[in-house]
Amino acid sequence: MDIARGENAVPHVLIFPLPIQSPVNSMLKLAELLCLAGVHVTFLITKHNHQRLLRSTDGVESRFDRYPGSFGFEIISDGFPEDHPRSVDDFLDLLNCLQGVAEPHLRQVFLRPEKGRKVTCGIVEAKFSYAFEIGSEVGVPVFAFETISPCCLGVFLCIPQLFEAGKLPLTKGEDLETSVDVVPGMEGLLKVRDLPRFCRTEGPQAEKSRKLFMAKIQSLRKAQGLILNSFEELEGPILPHIRTHFPNTTYLIGPVQQHLKTRLAEMPPSSNSFWREDKTCIQWLDEQPDESVIYVSFGSLSTLTMAQLMEVFHGLVTSGVRFLWVLRPDILKAGEELSDQNMVTQLKKNCSQNGQIVSWAPQEQVLAHRAVGGFWTHSGWNSTLESIIAGKPMICWAQIGDQRITRRVVSEVWKIGVDMEDKCDRLSIEKMVKELMGSRRQELKKSAQKFSKLAKKSVNNGGSSYTSFDHLINDIRRLSSIEHS
Ligand code: UDX
Repeated sequence: MDIARGENAVPHVLIFPLPIQSPVNSMLKLAELLCLAGVHVTFLITKHNHQRLLRSTDGVESRFDRYPGSFGFEIISDGFPEDHPRSVDDFLDLLNCLQGVAEPHLRQVFLRPEKGRKVTCGIVEAKFSYAFEIGSEVGVPVFAFETISPCCLGVFLCIPQLFEAGKLPLTKGEDLETSVDVVPGMEGLLKVRDLPRFCRTEGPQAEKSRKLFMAKIQSLRKAQGLILNSFEELEGPILPHIRTHFPNTTYLIGPVQQHLKTRLAEMPPSSNSFWREDKTCIQWLDEQPDESVIYVSFGSLSTLTMAQLMEVFHGLVTSGVRFLWVLRPDILKAGEELSDQNMVTQLKKNCSQNGQIVSWAPQEQVLAHRAVGGFWTHSGWNSTLESIIAGKPMICWAQIGDQRITRRVVSEVWKIGVDMEDKCDRLSIEKMVKELMGSRRQELKKSAQKFSKLAKKSVNNGGSSYTSFDHLINDIRRLSSIEHS
């Protein structure tokens, strides 16, 4: 094989995100950062998600006109029939189907002999282990972009060791509250209940998930480098541990949201929403006193039962605190639908002057608003980072996967939030909201603002993430000019 790239060739990076809102959002921001640095980008996206982006976000393609010839979407099928509902419960099936389509496609793209536009590097979602295999097979360096928090990755890297030592899986009767003390910097904090389900259960399904997980952790080592959406000053003790497990370079370039804003300087920031943002909530916020509103959003995937939804509503209303609540049209669990517009209208009416309900908000703008004093979140990594940037303390209501680990760190290490644990009754909600917006406000706000300053500093010229990004660009340039034979 002879892949000539040439000394002066412009690097051309293929970006391939997980096909859901949060990674598409953060990796489009990364794409724009690369374009700003003079790198060409092809963004591999599923047809379904591309259509959602075009429908909901104006200018998602034309924004890249400011980098002529540098950016293009490449659209592939996700392997599902067009009319498939693609519900949250179908996610694992979706990933399997997508792999069937993406494997041959990646091989073909990496080998495509287009003059001047040949793909010279890949940056793919860290879970796509097959992309690292294909990259090493055809001689194209492929970097891993991790969309979960480094703390969570640090914990995941220890899981094989816990199985080898016979500490996992928990057998029947063992306590979910057992401490997991092998992760540096997290001694005494983590419980077995925070780990993925296959660590807590036995049986063929758990065994299958465990094997898959181990294989993915192993193949991550084949990546050219590991890109993390966070910053050195936040992650502290976990980084040497990640670097021990991961032999190649680790780049901390985040928060990419703030990094892009900083490098764009005067240009308007970008939005990459799968739902149309309801900007009327900004006008409503403009009319509220400083730091008086709690913003409530459970991200793009979490679902609630109707009973939970009603507890959230009553808890918010009885707290007496002003609130802005994102009620996604697909927030209810399968079988329960929020299609009854009367109910949404009724809820909106019952909020009186104190609350606003929208189906999707311009979240970064909302969090930055002077009227917002706190954030009730599901502890998704993007939402957590956006709250840190804005210096807003959080109530954490973790539901799945990485969120459980992130909320422990938010509440017990960084001390910028309170943990709701699994309580979802109106009295507990009322108490938590009052605590965040009242009795514990100053203490939590102080820590949140400290991290906000550090986050902003890290992406300024000379800051840790700014420097790490420049390092990544240099490595991409160097690798793109190497002649492989
Ligand atoms: C998923 C997982 O749930 C999460 O645990 C993992 O860390 C990333 O993938 P999601 O649930 O969507 O992500 O949460 P999160 O990472 O917080 O991302 C949500 C994104 O949607 C954020 O960037 C946020 O700004 C945006 N958003 C959310 C809006 O723009 N408007 C809204 O109304 C709500």
